[in-house]
Amino acid sequence: MKVVILGAKGQLGWEFTHFLRDKVKVFPFSHKELDILDSKDLKRRFEEIHPDVVINCAAYTKVDRAEEERALAFKINSIGAKNVSFASFEVNAKVVYFSTDYVFDGEKNVPYTELDKPNPISCYGESKFVGEQFTREFNPNHLILRISWLYGINGNNFVKTIVKLAKEKKPLKIVDDQRGTPTYTLDVVKQTWRLIQKGSVGLYHSSNDGEATWFDFAKEIVSNLNLNAEVTPIKTEEYPTKAKRPPYSILENYSLELEDLNIMRDWREALRDFTNRYKEQF
Ligand SMILES: NC(=O)c1ccc[n+]([C@@H]2O[C@H](COP(=O)([O-])OP(=O)(O)OC[C@H]3O[C@@H](n4cnc5c(N)ncnc54)[C@H](OP(=O)(O)O)[C@@H]3O)[C@@H](O)[C@H]2O)c1
Repeated sequence: MKVVILGAKGQLGWEFTHFLRDKVKVFPFSHKELDILDSKDLKRRFEEIHPDVVINCAAYTKVDRAEEERALAFKINSIGAKNVSFASFEVNAKVVYFSTDYVFDGEKNVPYTELDKPNPISCYGESKFVGEQFTREFNPNHLILRISWLYGINGNNFVKTIVKLAKEKKPLKIVDDQRGTPTYTLDVVKQTWRLIQKGSVGLYHSSNDGEATWFDFAKEIVSNLNLNAEVTPIKTEEYPTKAKRPPYSILENYSLELEDLNIMRDWREALRDFTNRYKEQF
């Protein structure tokens, strides 16, 4: 099997590249090597490689900055997704797109399933929701995985921020009124790989299991890594951000459960695995 990975130097792209390299023939492309806004280059590369699967990890992920760079966020997350989806369709390859819990407004107080109607409240969320639709529209052989609060060893994320602040002895005042689920890149990769192997298509919520606030997440990181830091809970209004975030965005892996394909672990177990695996690097 031949698998193209786009955005291969990001958190998720890096994890896919490492996980798949001894299993299939991987063709990882960084932003520099292949820009998803260049549809001609996508077409040319895909015609050379003839991939079976194209994993689109390329994205604009700066949630707050997207409020000011609205056009760029839509270009990459929506138009870029369309380019990748259509180029994959033209060479008969499956396309995989990753979306987010931020497609929901967070007004519910029970977990969101694939049957719930998205209603994004930020530019980032909107651009990803349009990206889902374009991916679906331009290639029927698609997989769309909605994931949340992602962390991994490559790139910037909440875990790394907490470790850095704790080591600099900065105060850790963390929001405790937004609920979601921290999700480990390696678990997303394994779940995606399972879906690819099963020949699955369509939309799947694929976050780790359970729920947390950012405060819970920070406390767990500090405890796992024995960091000498005190974590104080604060409210969203005490930490104003440019983009609005859903107060509640737990994803239920409903379709995975219905199809007996769910292998996502509890978030605390996944985080423990991650911090143990990389403790020397923290
Ligand atoms: N991070 C989260 O908490 C989270 C939560 C839910 C869903 N997701 C989704 O999960 C996916 C992976 O996220 P991530 O955290 O791995 O993102 P990431 O670390 O920000 O990586 C995104 C990668 O895409 C590249 N890229 C940007 N524009 C590109 C373009 N025009 N052409 C090709 N590559 C381009 C970036 O390269 P440069 O840096 O060089 O521009 C970067 O390497 C994304 O679809 C994201 O929306 C993420």
